[in-house]
Amino acid sequence: MKRLKINTILICSLVLTLIAQYSCTTKEKANTSQNPEFDQTNNWIVLDKTDATKEGTTFTWVFEVKNPSDYVFQVVTKDGSFTDTDTATVKIEEQAFEESLSKNYVINENEIVSEFKNIIPLKNTEKQTLSITTEADFKSLRFIPHFKKQIGSGKYHQEWLAMHQSDEKQEALKHFKEAKFGMFIHWGLYSQAGGIWKGTKINNAPHPGPKVAEWLMYAFQIPRTEYKELAKTFNPDKSFAQNVVKLAKDVGMKYIVITSKHHDGFALFDSKSSDFNMVDATPYKADIIKELYNACLAEGIDFGVYYSHGNDWMDGTDGNYANVKKVNDSLGIYTHPNGKNLWDPSDNTHEEYLQNKAYSQIKELLTMLPELRLIWFDGTGFTTEAQAFQFYKLVYDINPNVLVNRRVGYAFGDYLDAGDNKIPSANETLEKYWETCGTTNNSWGYKSYDNDWKSPKELLYYFVDILSKGGNYLLNIGPDGKGHVPETSAQNLRAMGKWIHQNAEAVYGTTRWNTPNEGQEETLLDGTGHRASKGFQREFTSKDFWFTTKGNKVYAISLTNTDGDILIKSLRKGKGDIEKVKLLGSDKTLSYTQNKNGLQTTVTGVPKDALGFVIEVTLKNN
Ligand code: GLC
Repeated sequence: MKRLKINTILICSLVLTLIAQYSCTTKEKANTSQNPEFDQTNNWIVLDKTDATKEGTTFTWVFEVKNPSDYVFQVVTKDGSFTDTDTATVKIEEQAFEESLSKNYVINENEIVSEFKNIIPLKNTEKQTLSITTEADFKSLRFIPHFKKQIGSGKYHQEWLAMHQSDEKQEALKHFKEAKFGMFIHWGLYSQAGGIWKGTKINNAPHPGPKVAEWLMYAFQIPRTEYKELAKTFNPDKSFAQNVVKLAKDVGMKYIVITSKHHDGFALFDSKSSDFNMVDATPYKADIIKELYNACLAEGIDFGVYYSHGNDWMDGTDGNYANVKKVNDSLGIYTHPNGKNLWDPSDNTHEEYLQNKAYSQIKELLTMLPELRLIWFDGTGFTTEAQAFQFYKLVYDINPNVLVNRRVGYAFGDYLDAGDNKIPSANETLEKYWETCGTTNNSWGYKSYDNDWKSPKELLYYFVDILSKGGNYLLNIGPDGKGHVPETSAQNLRAMGKWIHQNAEAVYGTTRWNTPNEGQEETLLDGTGHRASKGFQREFTSKDFWFTTKGNKVYAISLTNTDGDILIKSLRKGKGDIEKVKLLGSDKTLSYTQNKNGLQTTVTGVPKDALGFVIEVTLKNN
């Protein structure tokens, strides 16, 4: 009877197309699946008490992790509950967690699930030993992949791979890798509000969520009809496109990615699928995406669009939240709101939103912009594997030259993004090419009161760090409602750009050298919120170098500007025979010595206002 009920739940979840991310059967062992279809519970680890080795109140299992991931850990009782004083201490290899047990969910009518607040990373696929010490009467332990980790079925992998490995995609990827530096533009109706709604700053908004200005509608739970009013006053200066493209050129950015539709659902282009767009809903009445596209093409800048396919607070209903939650509740799994509109959802279905708006607007963009280079998807959460694949394929079928980023969902991106304002550590090995997107203050959209601008040196440091690890930097501007770029951010970018133009050879078309950097430890950029709260502290000394390489050249980048003797340890004898050493930007070759300590030379003539210098080392071809 119970099994029948479970199967009914499973079928429901399939119908609701939720299975790819959350749903599951309540099978009791990790390796037995009752469903020939992909079953997400294959990624669950369930440890029965009856299989444990017992010593007093300590139970121990040895188990394997098939999919390294972050996991949510649960303790399940049978026919009873936990008492107020029940606690459990869990040890997994070197990690130990202690928490009190409480009633978080009821499953199968009478089983109580207690969920640990700590997310447990199980990164090792070798056999692991887990022990739990508790007085509580429990039945089993469950590890469930954390909601942010999407584990796909592999069903689409071959078909995806064929597209991803096509000549068109590989050519596009090569071009993208060489570009290194792009401009992100977050701009839309929210830009007029500058992060303030009816006198309240978004940081003090009544509802939880990111405190970045483009999340205005969400943070204040603005009803859809009220938010729409913002379109009536959105009338930027005609010079927007020209100004922005000029700025990108001045800074040395090779591509632009603009929010063609952000989470609020407003399209900055002429859309037939929704009249909540720049032409039909604003006094501007013209297609500003097309204007920017044309301005980019005229200046040789590559053009890409950001498109929020997962979140659409205007037309995406609740993003499938209620359906997902219903299934999850019955299985004892938490459902994160995932940035969906739960305050005033549209009354269509989510599938209707996909068919009538998201898929069709992607088609519109691809048709309208034949030279489009990239679509930067965002806002997944409840996007299923099948839907994510459909977005990827849709793009490929219309224009195989267009790259797709990781956030399309699952593993279908052509390249990775390391996360908002995140730079991976030099030790991390990534399977695909990557990009870091970053802000110039602590918001993407224009926030009138955020003056915590990153200095030219800080921005350049992140860029150089990214270059040395072989990635791209997509650096954001947040123009105001008129389309004006905040003056300080434009100045800081231009200052950074001056260095980039002078040292272009060490930047464009380079790759990671065998040693990414030497000197101090990495100062990692670890997320928008992290930078906002911690600020940036780092001294740059003449012992710090970041490296890039191209052909037989190695570029040693210093972020100091003082003349004097330098020692580059990573270029010591045995690390390559040297043909020539010079200061980039000058014709003079430098005399040097190379011994077991490093390459020693003397730098002279670095301008006093320079953000740093580059030593170009030409290696002999041997
Ligand atoms: C996050 C935010 C979004 C922003 C994006 C930039 O996904 O939700 O507002 O556009 O990051 O990477």
